[in-house]
Order: sequence, then C-alpha cells, then structure tokens
Amino acid sequence: MTIRILLAGATGWVGRALTPAIAAAPDLELAAAVARSAAGTRIEGAPVFATIEEALTVPADVLIDYTKPGAVKAHVAAALNAGLHAVVGTSGLGAADYAELDALARERGRGVLAAGNFSITATLLKRFTLEAAKYVADVEIIDYASAGKPDAPSGTARELAETLAGVRLPATSRPVSEVSGVPATRGGGFGEGAREVRVHALRLPSFVLGVESIFGAPDERLSIRHDAGSSAAPYVAGTLLAARKVSGWTGVRRGLDTLLD
Ligand SMILES: NC(=O)c1ccc[n+]([C@@H]2O[C@H](COP(=O)([O-])OP(=O)(O)OC[C@H]3O[C@@H](n4cnc5c(N)ncnc54)[C@H](OP(=O)(O)O)[C@@H]3O)[C@@H](O)[C@H]2O)c1
Repeated sequence: MTIRILLAGATGWVGRALTPAIAAAPDLELAAAVARSAAGTRIEGAPVFATIEEALTVPADVLIDYTKPGAVKAHVAAALNAGLHAVVGTSGLGAADYAELDALARERGRGVLAAGNFSITATLLKRFTLEAAKYVADVEIIDYASAGKPDAPSGTARELAETLAGVRLPATSRPVSEVSGVPATRGGGFGEGAREVRVHALRLPSFVLGVESIFGAPDERLSIRHDAGSSAAPYVAGTLLAARKVSGWTGVRRGLDTLLD
C-alpha cells in the first residue's frame, strides 16, 4: 500500500533532500507540501500550500515536518486532528510539548515519531552514550552548531540529554548550586538533582551540527562524538524509515533508536 506524505518545509535544506527521495520510493507518494515561498507551485508533482490547514485538504497518511521551532507544534496538532500520523524532524520542542502531543495522539489513535536526529550514525551515538552511562557516573554533553542556528540546544543534544537524565548514575561533580563565579558557564541542565545532565552549546562558523558525550572517570576519559557534514543526506533514510513505521503505534515515541531493532 502506498503511504501518502504531506511534507511541511519542502523547500528547506532537509525538505529539498527529502522530496526526490519520496518521489523515487515505490511505496511512498508526495501528496502535498507546505512552504510559504512556493505556495501555488508544484514539487515532484505535488501541490504546495502556504499553510498546513490548506495542505490538509489533500488526502494524506503521514505528516513529515522539517520547518521551524515556532511552527512545528501547531502543524503536528493539526495533522493529528485531521487523522494523520506524524514524523517530526524540526527541533525546538521539549518534554512538556511532547507530553501534550502524546495525549492528543492517543486521543486520536495516531502515532508520532520525533527524533532530534534522524541520522543512523547519530542514533548510534545516542545508543552508545546510554550504554556507557550504565557504567560511568560523570557525563556532560557538548552541542556544536553553526553561528546562525536559531535554537539551543540542538534537537539532537536535547533529546540525548533528556533521555540520559532518565537513566544516568548520580554525578560526582560539585552541584552547580554550590559553584562560585559564573555558574551559567557550567551549561544548561536537563533532569533533576545529581542526575541532571549539563549541555554546553557552541555556536560558531565552520560547524554544521555535532554532538559529543564526554564521560570522565578517575584518570581516564571517554568521548563519543558525531559530526554531520554540510548536506542533508544523513537525515533522509531515517526519516523515510519513520514514515513507513509510524502507523504501527499510538502516541509519541522519541528517537530513531526506538525503531532500529
Ligand atoms: N531531526 C533531524 O535529524 C534534523 C536534521 C536537520 C535539521 N533539523 C531541524 O529541522 C528544521 C528544518 O531545518 P532546515 O535546515 O531544513 O530549515 P530551512 O532550510 O530553514 O527550511 C525550513 C522550511 O520550512 C518552511 N517554513 C518555515 N517556517 C514555516 C511556517 N511558519 N509555516 C510553514 N512552513 C514554514 C520553509 O519554507 P517557507 O519559509 O517558504 O515557508 C522551508 O521550506 C530545523 O528545526 C532543524 O533544526 C532536524
């Protein structure tokens, strides 16, 4: 059966990589697209609309969203209310937003897969980090991105930190509340108390998107790092895998790792 895709953000950096891949996949069809600057045109034969509400007049099965942090939540809610499942690539939403979307998805009997990073190798970084956190207590995250990235931390770092905070061992480092000087230099915290995970976001020219988990133990250190290059190719296969699988459950799942096995 062909899965009909509604792609929000079709003219963007990721969207432009996804449209030919959807068109080339025998089991997928680009039914409609959203991009304000291309409204009224066609992409890979599909009509492009300025708003999600207009695009939802075209029958579709799955919303794929790669737009902006300020637009994505309303897009997903509109899609769920219209009976679609949703794949969320856009960054910016946190645990509280996903709790709300989870309630809506369950009410509507639809699935959502949100991943801070749809790259398979970045997903392996998350898996290896969670594995190492079972054995090494102290871990912090560095989030590398370009100078103009509008949100911090990145969706990749945020998802990693929120998941890690749920499973990590208590830190042995001095609590930030007891640090003198400028405590903000210890980064942003996700989670509670000694299980909080600190994230340090760098925004500099020459970086595209990278994340590093640094584990420290007495007299030794482990770094696990992923760096994406300048094309959006790493995100295509994982996004399409999610679009194919997302009708298989109800509610929100976070992370491509939940699909890999
Ligand atoms: N999860 C992952 O693996 C992953 C990977 C890469 C990027 N991302 C995230 O995905 C998002 C998109 O990244 P990108 O680099 O592709 O961005 P981009 O190049 O700026 O593209 C954004 C797209 O969304 C559309 N758009 C923007 N605001 C909109 C609105 N209010 N309503 C409807 N359409 C809107 C834009 O078209 P118009 O301006 O013409 O409307 C454009 O097509 C970002 O949040 C980024 O951090 C996630």
